[in-house]
Parts: sequence; C-alpha cells; structure tokens
Amino acid sequence: MCGIIGYVGKQDIVPILIEGLKKLEYRGYDSAGIAVLNGDEVQIRRVKGKIKILEDSLREEQLKGTYGLGHTRWATHGRPSEENAHPHRDCSHSIVVVHNGIIENYIEIKNTLKAEGHKFVTETDTEVIAHLVEKYYSNSLESAVQKAVKELVGNFAISVVSKNEKDTIVTAKVGPPTVIGLGEGENFISSDLNPLLSYTQEIIFLEDGEMAVITPNSVRFSDFEGNSLEKKAEHITWSPLMVEKQGYKHFMLKEIFEQPQVIRDTLAGRLSLDSGKVFLDEIGVSESTLQTVKRVVIIACGTSYHAGLVGKCFIETLAGVPTDVVYASEYRYEDYILEDNTLAVPVSQSGETADTLAAFKSIVEKNNPSLAVCNVLNSSIGRTADGVLLTHAGPEIGVAATKTFSAQMAALALLSIRLAKVRGAISMEDNIVLMKDLQRIPHKMEEILMRAKEIEKIAQQFVSYSHFLYLGRWVSFPIALEGALKLKEISYIHAEGYPGGEMKHGPIALIDEKMPTMVVIPRDRVYDKMLSNISEIKTRMGYVIAVAFEDDQGILDKVDKVIPIPATNPLFSPFLTTIPLQLFAYYIASIRGADVDQPRNLAKSVTVE
Ligand code: M6R
Repeated sequence: MCGIIGYVGKQDIVPILIEGLKKLEYRGYDSAGIAVLNGDEVQIRRVKGKIKILEDSLREEQLKGTYGLGHTRWATHGRPSEENAHPHRDCSHSIVVVHNGIIENYIEIKNTLKAEGHKFVTETDTEVIAHLVEKYYSNSLESAVQKAVKELVGNFAISVVSKNEKDTIVTAKVGPPTVIGLGEGENFISSDLNPLLSYTQEIIFLEDGEMAVITPNSVRFSDFEGNSLEKKAEHITWSPLMVEKQGYKHFMLKEIFEQPQVIRDTLAGRLSLDSGKVFLDEIGVSESTLQTVKRVVIIACGTSYHAGLVGKCFIETLAGVPTDVVYASEYRYEDYILEDNTLAVPVSQSGETADTLAAFKSIVEKNNPSLAVCNVLNSSIGRTADGVLLTHAGPEIGVAATKTFSAQMAALALLSIRLAKVRGAISMEDNIVLMKDLQRIPHKMEEILMRAKEIEKIAQQFVSYSHFLYLGRWVSFPIALEGALKLKEISYIHAEGYPGGEMKHGPIALIDEKMPTMVVIPRDRVYDKMLSNISEIKTRMGYVIAVAFEDDQGILDKVDKVIPIPATNPLFSPFLTTIPLQLFAYYIASIRGADVDQPRNLAKSVTVE
C-alpha cells in the first residue's frame, strides 16, 4: 500500500504535499517523493527512506509551483531506492505519475513499449503508466490517461500531471481508494481523508472505473469510456485534531487512550435500555435474515481476525449461531463449504485489505447476505457488502491496530445482542443486563488507563527479553493472540499466543526463566483450568505475569506479577484485558527506541495479495 497526495491551487505547494505525506506515511514508508510543476518546469525530488528525509532535502533546496503530486511508498515491484521511488516519468520527462496498487501485466506492456522505443529507468511496474500515457498523448492528458488505463490489468489508484496541461491533475482508480477534497480556488486528491481534514470537509470518493480531471476551480468526472458522471460531495465530520498526536509521544499511545471514547461512540444511539433493542438500521440485512441465518462466517486478517475470534464467542454464546472465523488469505485457497443461509461478515479497519476484499467478493458472488464491519467510510469492502456496521474509532494512524480492535469488538457485541434478541435466544432481562454491562466498559477502561504508569514499570523489567508466551482460553485466547501480535510488530520481540490448554502439547518445552508468560485470566468459565496451566509453568521455573480481575485475591500467590483490571461480565472481558497488553507492548517498544508508529516492513493496510 502506498499514499498519494495531489494539490492544485494558489498556496505554496510543498508544505501541503509534505504535511499530506506525513499523514499518509502509515500507508508505506520505504521511500517518498514529490513532483512540483511550475510553468514549463517539472521538478522532482525523491528519497529512499521516510518523509523526514524528503523534508530535509527540500529545506536545503526549495521547490516552487502551483500543482503537483506526492507519494509515500511501500515497495512491491522494485526494491526501496531513490530511483524506484515515485513519481515516475515518461521518456520526455513531461508526464509524471504516482501510483498505489499493482499493475499485473506490466512486463508485457513494458516489452511492447520498449520495442516501440521507450526507455525505462526503474524496476517498478508504475513506470509503464507514464510511458503509456506518453504514447497516447496528443493534446489531451485526460484522453491519454483514459486510453492508458484501459490497458492496465491489476489494481491502481493513479494520479497524473503533465507540464503541457497547467494546473491540471488527472486521477483514475480501480481498487485502492482515492478521495477528492473540494476547496475554494483549490482542490486536492488523496489516498484517504486524513491529509484533507485541515483544508476541507467537502469530499468526493472516486469509485472503481471512474476518473476525474481536477483544476483549481473545477472537478469533472467520467468513466473510462469518456462518459461524464455526476457525483455529489459528502460532508464528513472527522476533524483535523483527530490526526494530530495532541501531546502524546506516539499515535499508538494516543489511540490506546482514546479507547473509552471509541467504545462510547460506537455504542452511541445504538442501544435502547427501554426496549432492549439494538438499533442497527444501517446494516442492510433484514430482521428476517437475522432470524433465519444458520451460520455466520467472519472473514478478516491480522488484528481484525482476532476481533473476529472474540466476535465468534459473542455470537455463539449469546445468539447460539454457529460461527466460523477464517483468515481471508487462506479462505481464498480452501474448499470452505459456504452454505446458502450463511451471513458473511468481513471485518476490516481500513476496508481495503486485498485478501479480505478478494475472499469476501467470492462470497458475495454466491449471493449470501453480508454485513461489513469497517472503520473507514465508503471503503471497498463496505461498498461490496449489503450494509456496513461502522465502527466510530476515528482515524487510526499507528500501524499497530489498537482502538479499532476495541471498536470492532464493540460492533460485534452489538451484532450478537441484536441476533440474540431477534432470534429469541435471550430473555429481556438478560438482554438489558448485557447492554448495561457493555455501557459500563468505557468507564472500566478508563480505570485501567489510569494505571498506565504501573504497566510501564512492569514493561521496564522486560525490555531485554527476547521471547514471550501469551496464554488465554475461550474469550481470552484471541486476546493472547492479539497481545503477542502487538509485541511482535512494534518491538520485534518474538511472542507466541497460545490457548492455555494447548501449552502442554508442545510450547511447554520452551518454558524456562528466559521466557516469561503473559497469562490472560479473568474470572470466567475456564478460570480453574487456566490456574492449572499457570501451575504447569511455575513448576518449570517460568515467570508469569497475569492480567486478572482486581478482586481476585487468589491469583496473587500463584503468579509473579499481577496487572489488575476491574471485574466485568467475563464475556466482555476482552475489552479490558486487551488494554494492559497493548500498553505492555507499547512501553517495551518505546523504551527500546523502536519506531512504534511505523514498524519496519509493515503498512497500515495491505492492499496487495
Ligand atoms: O485494515 P484491516 O483491519 O483489514 O487490516 C488487517 C491487518 O492487516 C491489520 O490488522 C494488521 O494485522 C495490523 N498491523 C495489526 O496491528
């Protein structure tokens, strides 16, 4: 995944492109570049590495112009290098392209263009686009781009400028997102909303197969055949403050602390304690479908997959509907038996993850009812589903998902209560109790966050360890997986999440004084079983840290360290148990000096297979 920003207007363009790229940097950060056009001059600056390096280089030698493009890269074709960094140009250096996605037939196109005399200077797939546009350019950039995109196979969001068409950006997409921001005498394009929030809240989302021609005072839309399209602007409510660190050292820490509010926002207006109803009018799946579905299949990757595993516990426990949770990347190549009466629920923060989208599309083709859980408005996955259960987490900038994980669990809790209610699986009394339990979660999260300093102190003791085991059972097993994932991805420490009962079937061989175990042990139906697992570790000299209810005095002499959390309905304990594990991973990574918000090799959402 890469990030694209484009501007056309009267302001000094470089700060707009650089600030925009910084807000998109979570999408990829191995190289970056900008193109600034000024009259007949095309000025390109590209660097290997982060936006900061690009910014420093621009400070030394400034560029001026009125329109241009910026790009931050997550390499797919061609190693990260200055040469392979975008923007890319044609032979005459008059056409400039930035691209997010993959051109699958680029070798074929490249060979044809080479035979026609085009000279290539990079290893990227993107460069073919610049040469294709050059090939088709006579006097209209729009029509040259139109002809070029029809030859491309794969997925792409591209933006193109030419020194021959002043103050004009042409953009087109099939796959990755493109958002157009409308200003006064200026317009913007971007890969997501974040860079635009400081300038405008009037937004138009480009759909697949559409292109736009953007000048300071106009935006025209068409399809790839040249047919004009009318598109309406949407007013979005995200504010610029949401994409600032607001005094926190890292976005991840800020986002961990935002979780109580995120849960409040995701529940807001959706629960009625009087009627016991969960209002999910927007989900696009009728009450009769919810009453009759025989199975739910949750499709997701990474942290969203872990939220799906928690969702499975919610749905099966409350509504009694059998639920499968599948890795999207595996689903595509398995022979999953998808029955007619199965509700498909893709869970994806970005709504753009390529594996999730592809797996989900193969389900949609079979006409199964579907409902997406997404955090980003108008995402590809959301648009593919019958409806969207939107999580109101706001923009998440840290590459490691935290607040969106909690929001996804909240959305799945709402869905499961709704399913339980419409299917008559729970009494009115239990229904109300569950709702109240959910509503109390944000306050309990705040209590845990007030103890962040204590968790930091515990983290300090473990910064130099190289291996961790995370254990949990039932609803805490996904939390063990998620805790281990958080530690791995931001601190580069090896960590394994395991179901507590499975430990004796193998991982127990790893236990010694150098491999601490983080145990997630709320007082729930598997509490005693988990205590036995702890004792198995202790008898093998293992060090145990337990996340346990604060009123659980019994745990104190069974483990080495306890991180207490407020007691809650055990089914909803994942909302609470996850926070100490996020903080533990955060502080270890931060103390080790790791790049917490932009860990190596990762991108916020993975839009390639
Ligand atoms: O946008 P999505 O929720 O579909 O992304 C799925 C995963 O790529 C994502 O959760 C990833 O595992 C994060 N780095 C986890 O912190």
